[in-house]
Amino acid sequence: MKVLIVGSGGREHTLAWKLVQSPSMTKLYCAPGNAGIAALAECVPLAAADISGLRAFVQEQSIDLTIVGPEGPLAAGIVDDFRKHKLRIFGPHKAAARIESSKAFSKDLMVRLGIPTAESKTFTAVAAALDYLERREAPIVVKADGLAQGKGVVIAHSRAEARDAVLAMLEGRAFGEAGSRIVIEEFLDGEEMTVMAFTDGKTVIPMIPAQDHKRLRDGDTGPNTGGMGAYAPAPLGTGKMMERVRRNILEPALEGLSQLGSPFQGVLYAGLMVSGGEPRVLEFNARLGDPETQVVLPLLKTDLVELLLAVTEHRLDQATVEWHGRAAVCVVVAAEGYPGAIQTGMPIHGLEQEGSEDDLMIFHAGTARSSSSDAIVTAGGRVLGITGIGEDLAAARTRAYAGVKGIQFEGMQYRNDIGSRAFA
Ligand code: AMP
Ligand code: GLY
Repeated sequence: MKVLIVGSGGREHTLAWKLVQSPSMTKLYCAPGNAGIAALAECVPLAAADISGLRAFVQEQSIDLTIVGPEGPLAAGIVDDFRKHKLRIFGPHKAAARIESSKAFSKDLMVRLGIPTAESKTFTAVAAALDYLERREAPIVVKADGLAQGKGVVIAHSRAEARDAVLAMLEGRAFGEAGSRIVIEEFLDGEEMTVMAFTDGKTVIPMIPAQDHKRLRDGDTGPNTGGMGAYAPAPLGTGKMMERVRRNILEPALEGLSQLGSPFQGVLYAGLMVSGGEPRVLEFNARLGDPETQVVLPLLKTDLVELLLAVTEHRLDQATVEWHGRAAVCVVVAAEGYPGAIQTGMPIHGLEQEGSEDDLMIFHAGTARSSSSDAIVTAGGRVLGITGIGEDLAAARTRAYAGVKGIQFEGMQYRNDIGSRAFA
């Protein structure tokens, strides 16, 4: 089986790591990939957004299966394009991916189906949005409708701050077209949890629950980021809770999309806020989460190629998914300045410790091979995801941080408290 992964981050490195363990793999490609992925797959210099280029490559190389990591190509219709050309691809169609690419669409779907979520209203006009704010209490949440790489959400602690966010998005076009429509919603308090599920549109198989750490600094302070670390399984996701998430959230969402004529196939991601034992949806994503994937896939026992094929061939009802009964903690190591402007090209030391033991994985995100020397250098905001595996979360955390201590590059930053909420 020849497989192509589209994307270049820690999620895609983890996918590559898991896929090459499958006996049915004969050749793995990744577009565009990174320096870590290059050790497992042939990296192809095609951007994730270059749909026609990717399609031509898949046809030339007779690739059997393409798996899409990031949301951008899904929202742009890569799955529709590949299917039209009879190419096998894992991920939702453009219409189904709207559950992530438009928060207004996703909110509307949830309200119609009775899926628990924060109360909200959608606006395109400044005056109406400001008028609505006058009648609400802070804290309140202002979100750009479209894709904004996790940055289009403002938790406003005062009405003035909320007004600024509304103006910045609708008038200042702070997020371009993505913010030409906004959602203003009720602030939810509680504990966050991520549940990702494999689905062929009919059968849904949730993966083990995870928790992401979105804020930059220890104690959940500082600006929001793409994610500074994660752990799994999240103790919050008890059997009863997971059943509730499946029945009240995942299954209705999939049914709702099918009724609209846009059945969803791929991985459905539910970002949840849990309070008083009640899970409510903060957002849906149409793909695997990053860094959540870096703790969930290492605990998956089942052959991933088999599962991806079961999804694309609509026979997930016949699949079983097994997990290693262990725990994983991933600490993201980021470049100085992240999530703002960063410098690239810093040599990274200590990467060779990976592979010496099977309880430590160093997943590359923003890395590249230097053009002038053979060194691996930084090439993005989130540089590495260092995943420790252990019998329990405490052991996994110890392993992950021992791994982090072995890594060095100029300006590196990371959180010291990944996983701590599981112990609180
Ligand atoms: P989103 O991209 O919608 O998941 O939002 C990013 C992050 O903002 C979430 O992971 C939460 O930490 C926070 N957030 C989003 N919506 C809300 C809300 N209604 N109440 C509280 N926090 C929120
Ligand atoms: N970790 C959040 C996301 O992948 O969107």
